Amino acid sequence: MPRHALVAPLLLAPLLALAACGQGEPSTTTPAAPVHVLTDAEKATLLASLPAPYNAGDLENGRRAFARCRACHTIGEGGPDMAGPNLYGVFGRKAGDRPRYNYSNAMRTANFTWDAEKLDHWLENPRTFLPGNKMTFPGLPDAADRRDVIAFLKVETGYKPEAAPAA
Ligand code: HEC
Repeated sequence: MPRHALVAPLLLAPLLALAACGQGEPSTTTPAAPVHVLTDAEKATLLASLPAPYNAGDLENGRRAFARCRACHTIGEGGPDMAGPNLYGVFGRKAGDRPRYNYSNAMRTANFTWDAEKLDHWLENPRTFLPGNKMTFPGLPDAADRRDVIAFLKVETGYKPEAAPAA
């Protein structure tokens, strides 16, 4: 048997794995394709690629801080809406845009797109950031906690740096 016949399947396997981790539909049904979970090394690379101060974020502290959000939010791809909407793909998404989630009028008609800076203000004080919203959460007063939870969310919710080649 020619040598390349053996090599080809070995080369193809990682490519197929990458193909399976494409842009999932942001909402609705459970995805048919297996969800691509980042390895710790991939998370570290993504973290390092974030703009300051998020590249210095502490993912473990972010995970701990996010424990306060979990009562109301899932973050996994295809995860359900609970008291609050699923947050997968939130960066770069228009506020109040999950199709089947019942947002407050304030959030549904808010006209901005979520980025780190918006999220930082939202999490500092949800009530003053967007009066009339229905997220009953007092806020994260500690700036380092907000930095870390935002870094954690970037890594866990399918955020892709704009400059990176499409994977
Ligand atoms: C007590 C439940 C609760 C907790 C705790 C909570 N949230 Fe929320 N969250 C909500 C609700 C409800 C909404 C929808 C607000 C609206 O429609 O006005 C929301 C909306 C959001 C949105 C906007 C999503 C979109 O689709 O536009 C983000 C982002 C968010 N929350 C992040 C967080 C983070 C991060 C934490 C923890 C630091 C957190 N929330 C804690 C209930 C909660």
